[in-house]
Amino acid sequence: MTIEEKLGQLVQLPGGRQKSPNSKINDDERARVRSGLVGSYLNVAGAAETRALQRIAVEESRLGIPLLFAMDVIHGYRTIFPVPLAMASSWDPELVEGAAHVAAVEAAASGIHWTFAPMVDIARDARWGRIVEGAGEDPYLGAIIAAAQVQGFQHGGLGKPDAIIATTKHFAAYGAAVGGRDYSSADISDRTLNEVYLPPFYAAAKAGSGSFMSAFNDIGGVPATANRILLHDVLRDLWKYDGIVVSDWMAVDELRNHGVAADGGEAAVLALHAGVDIDMASNLFVTALAERIRADPALAADLDTAVRRVLLTKAKVGLFDDPYRFSDAARERTSILTPQHRTAARDAALRSIVLLKNEGNLLPLAGSLRKIAVVGALANDPDSELGPWRARGNVDDVSPLLPALRSALPKGTQLVFEPGASPTSPDGTAIPAAVAAARDADMVLLVVGETFDFSGEARSRSDLGLPGAQQTLADAILDTGKPVVVLLMNGRPLAIDRLAERAPAILETWFLGVEAGPAITDVLLGRAVPGGKLPVTFPRATGSVPFYYNHLPSGRPADADLGKDSARYHDLSITPLFPFGHGLSYTKFDYGPLQLDRREVAPGGSLFVAIDVRNSGSVIGDEVVQLYARDPLASVSRPVQELRGFRRVTLKPGETRRLRFTLTPEQFAVWGAGRWRIETGSIELMAGSSSADIRSRGSITISASGEGTAPAAAIPTAVHEERLP
Ligand code: BGC
Repeated sequence: MTIEEKLGQLVQLPGGRQKSPNSKINDDERARVRSGLVGSYLNVAGAAETRALQRIAVEESRLGIPLLFAMDVIHGYRTIFPVPLAMASSWDPELVEGAAHVAAVEAAASGIHWTFAPMVDIARDARWGRIVEGAGEDPYLGAIIAAAQVQGFQHGGLGKPDAIIATTKHFAAYGAAVGGRDYSSADISDRTLNEVYLPPFYAAAKAGSGSFMSAFNDIGGVPATANRILLHDVLRDLWKYDGIVVSDWMAVDELRNHGVAADGGEAAVLALHAGVDIDMASNLFVTALAERIRADPALAADLDTAVRRVLLTKAKVGLFDDPYRFSDAARERTSILTPQHRTAARDAALRSIVLLKNEGNLLPLAGSLRKIAVVGALANDPDSELGPWRARGNVDDVSPLLPALRSALPKGTQLVFEPGASPTSPDGTAIPAAVAAARDADMVLLVVGETFDFSGEARSRSDLGLPGAQQTLADAILDTGKPVVVLLMNGRPLAIDRLAERAPAILETWFLGVEAGPAITDVLLGRAVPGGKLPVTFPRATGSVPFYYNHLPSGRPADADLGKDSARYHDLSITPLFPFGHGLSYTKFDYGPLQLDRREVAPGGSLFVAIDVRNSGSVIGDEVVQLYARDPLASVSRPVQELRGFRRVTLKPGETRRLRFTLTPEQFAVWGAGRWRIETGSIELMAGSSSADIRSRGSITISASGEGTAPAAAIPTAVHEERLP
């Protein structure tokens, strides 16, 4: 290979835009492929289109190396599933894996080899718009979900015709942007980086993620795309990762804006040397590196390493055996948006819904209602159900709420719809009509929140309240005195203190994908029982973010007594609006005491913690049993609570299940000075229904010190289920 041909393999260019794939494939682009100056494309799609481009690479370029085709297939390709934050609310890794597999099956049938997902960035600040794309604030839940997504996209292993390369992104700490402003610096401690932000990346790497993406942000002044410590020392040397690293879009070129590269050439050298194998979109590797590589043997070695990884990846996918294996028009016709895929999307939507409040058991809706008023423009916004990343999702595929609900209501129950107010306009002139409809109804379904375009990339917000005139609408509706069920649609936690105080029932539906309408209808009518739990804390006010459950204790812990000087805001309650892990059901669950097989454990050993959970209500339902831990006395201050295990179980009325969690001392190791230290002493354990609803407690002792080898939060806790009579 010539240097230019090698560099070509490291170039990834857009073959179109997100919303119009293939639109940039013209004669110039085809000539580029012919001369071997490009190794992969993003935003291309379609069996026929990808086959045509692949043919040029394979038959008309000197070396005949096949291209890789990539796309952001985030939560579905054509069959759109709930947004990732919603999927994480299911606390169901198998479901998450299944959804990613469906996305891969469809994308692969359309010629796509590679997706830019999962996004595993921990998000502690709801102002950050991309919180919608991840699994929330917790590193343990995040690690489990990350691994499940990778396994789903790469189901059966790369090389299978329906497995696509996963990209774990954005490496790293992209979610720690100062002030929640997208693309801003992350300025976090080495401990926070390793204990909070890196565990999901580690879990994804160990799950075999075929690629990683370097982030846009800097950490303490070192841009991720030029961070050799992260991309080389941590990822390659420590984690033994052998997949490819692709930069984020134009991130190589943007090293100039960060002020660490004088020109494109310097930027390309920094990125390649740091460990970026593929430059997405800026095309600097081909235009600015050749001369520098001829002059610098070390850089030439970096080039060879990167090219080897790219070619190996193409080989793993099977492209050297059959470059067209993903571009199969027959498969494309039969395997996209199938009834089975829709069923999977509906199940995912059902399991992602979270019941936040249900005073007086207002939900499920009574069968005797004469008239229901559905209020809020979002009730009639199927487009938003597709979320901000929708690949080839199509609004016409969405089964919307209003018709689904209307057709499911018993004969004799009438449904009227009034938009009242929308998130996108301050206009409140339609509110009186909505109030009149509410007055004339037996109950109101108030649908409020955000459209899809309020969250996602470059969609950070300074105000987490209800946008537009929606709060005015909500107050006016609540003033009618009618029973009100609030249905939230949103891509981030909202600060809706007043609404939550006044409304008797609140259902969090996020953006649920193509089966949103039927899924919400099933839950409203009690044909399905909500069982999701929040993967993020809901703050009471925007001014209190970042606000997360696994914080450090402080010398003056937050105290409800304003007379004490403590770590709190003087004008706000110290509790979250809805805590991490929160979610109600139409039934009730009782927890037994925490049972331990022994109290002491040393590094290398393990112990069992068992908890009996019983459905003490009258309908079948799901509970997510959560196990938290705290190290109360250590060499450094430790979080007040950390999730270390969970299991979603379905229990019939009266049924009891024993859950046995296996814990090891490595799961409580503390990061410092480049290693995972296992310290001696006690660990408090807490089992419960949410981080704030702890039902039973116990403690264990770590009897000897030692060293861990993996990030503590990335070590999965095995859970064994046993039915009890
Ligand atoms: C985003 C990435 C995405 C890429 C390609 C960037 O702007 O940050 O998450 O994969 O675009 O679309």
